[in-house]
Amino acid sequence: MDRRREGIGDLYHQETKYRKEAMPRGGLDWGHQPSPYKEFPYALKHFPIRPLDQKGGKSLWETIAQRRSIREFSNQSITFPELSQLIWATQGITLKALGFEFRASPSAGALYPIETYLAVNRVEEIPSGLYHYNVKERQLILLKEGYLGPELCQAGLGQEMLEEAACVFVWTAMVDRSKWKYRERGYRYIYMDVGHIGQTLYLAATALDLGCCTVGAFFDEEVDRVIGVDGKNEISVYLGAIGHAR
Ligand SMILES: Cc1cc2nc3c(=O)[nH]c(=O)nc-3n(C[C@H](O)[C@H](O)[C@H](O)COP(=O)(O)O)c2cc1C
Repeated sequence: MDRRREGIGDLYHQETKYRKEAMPRGGLDWGHQPSPYKEFPYALKHFPIRPLDQKGGKSLWETIAQRRSIREFSNQSITFPELSQLIWATQGITLKALGFEFRASPSAGALYPIETYLAVNRVEEIPSGLYHYNVKERQLILLKEGYLGPELCQAGLGQEMLEEAACVFVWTAMVDRSKWKYRERGYRYIYMDVGHIGQTLYLAATALDLGCCTVGAFFDEEVDRVIGVDGKNEISVYLGAIGHAR
């Protein structure tokens, strides 16, 4: 095939294939493995997530059968225990073994490149604003108070669900966590990882009778700006709107 007629996506896929005769060489630089935990040195407030309800609820099969993308939300708030449940389902630590802290959603090489931010519009008990979820401490960190709905809607190509949602998950990737092991191929795994997280959010929301719609169409740099990431070392990759169906 004529390489000059390929787009950058075609080229990326070709260039990042594993081939028996040309596997990447060299061991891992264990001394410089990036930490899988992002910690903010400041916080306006901390909100530990609630203990979890791991029993009862709908069966997995019923949940899968009912899952649908919901884009129209009422102005009803969601509760903090519901939000806690969604966070735990997508990013909670569920096993400590072999020197790893394994999470509810799978991750290539257990490197966990995805960070979770939340634009909270209407969640009972906590102020609206921008939050980061600190996975290790199991708590939400309030980074900025205020209603981000309109800004996020604009950044999301005007999709109104991002303004109407009770809260919006914004997932970023810390690119070096994956590149440390997988080099350029790491981007493939970043998107697979966040895809798993997105599906888990859908299923958890469905199990709680909440609506959910994931969003891949957004102006990258605008979302980066809304949540305050640099768009290079940490990049916005996917969003998930949550609320009560209208
Ligand atoms: C990677 C990805 C990106 C998506 N981006 C958007 C989006 O930007 N806006 C939107 O309304 N729906 C978006 N969706 C939802 C799809 O449109 C939806 O999953 C599809 O229509 C199938 O419907 P269902 O989820 O109800 O089965 C996205 C879904 C995925 C998996």
